[in-house]
Amino acid sequence: MSVIAVANQKGGVGKTTTVANLGAALSEQGYRVLLVDNDPQANLAITLGVTDPEILSPTLGDLLVERGHNLTRGHVADAIVRTPSRLDLLPANSRLSAAELALIGTIGREMIMRDLLAPEIAEYDFVVIDCLPSLGLLAINALAAADGVVIPVQADFLALQGLAQMLETVNAVRAKLNAGLTVLGAVLTMMDVRTAHARGVATMLREALIGQVRVFDAEIRAQVALKDCVQEGRSVLEYRAESQAAMAYRRLASEVIEALEPRPNPAMWAEPGSRTAEALEPAVALGIASALEQAPTAPPAEAEAMAPLSRFGAFLAGRDAWLGQQAR
Ligand SMILES: Nc1ncnc2c1ncn2[C@@H]1O[C@H](COP(=O)(O)OP(=O)(O)O)[C@@H](O)[C@H]1O
Ligand SMILES: [Mg+2]
Repeated sequence: MSVIAVANQKGGVGKTTTVANLGAALSEQGYRVLLVDNDPQANLAITLGVTDPEILSPTLGDLLVERGHNLTRGHVADAIVRTPSRLDLLPANSRLSAAELALIGTIGREMIMRDLLAPEIAEYDFVVIDCLPSLGLLAINALAAADGVVIPVQADFLALQGLAQMLETVNAVRAKLNAGLTVLGAVLTMMDVRTAHARGVATMLREALIGQVRVFDAEIRAQVALKDCVQEGRSVLEYRAESQAAMAYRRLASEVIEALEPRPNPAMWAEPGSRTAEALEPAVALGIASALEQAPTAPPAEAEAMAPLSRFGAFLAGRDAWLGQQAR
């Protein structure tokens, strides 16, 4: 059983679309899949045809609050609904926002989702968590519960900046909460293959991350079928089985399975207790990783520990030169 968090603190980058269709692709390959909606907006439920998540009870938020108060009345199994496409979904609704606030004062607040899910999900081959667009407590809980993280990125420069921040958060979670967390890879989404910009960003991203973070070969193009299928409450694999989008998500599923195979941690990650990890410690202790932005920057003596991210920074800094080339 593997738990995969699909996360990026930016909204509108294709997280929910990826969870729905990656989940459908894994299910199509015969695996038992549970999708978890970790976003009070409940887009995942709606995407999968569960039209009124507000009336559901219990939901993820209710279970988290109970668990946070050491009440174990509700079980994950009581909350799971079967979507019209026969996918199992642990739904959320607006009560998840209240749950995030309720958890702030709870001991072990970063581990509550893991404690909730772990005993109840053994029957699934894959659990895929759709994260909300933030690096707050709910997202940290998902990363603490996960074996791997998939990061959807749009092929534009601002999205790449977000990726660097996301990788720092994963580093901090690895150091303090979940040493087993792996970045399975970044997936390019909403690729407009007709533009030189998208192609250029994709190429640069792949080159810049060689040896650091896998960028999946599967690229998700901007395709209206991925919007239309939401209206139908179906995955694109059902809605347009032979479309490029369906094929791309099938390919992504195969690559994610491959990435989950055990292998040594890449050297880029800060080990627990390293100076990088210490620098990030207060932010994680607060459970609010967006505070990472205020984390002290490393003095020159620590340049080595920060090397991978500064290499990524150099990549971002190179954008002006690159944009200049595009203009010519
Ligand atoms: N590859 C794509 N092509 C076209 N539209 C897409 C694609 N991926 C996502 N969308 C649409 O873009 C919007 C945002 O995507 P979504 O998956 O909800 O992002 P997030 O969960 O990161 O906020 C949605 O309306 C979705 O239907
Ligand atoms: Mg979403």
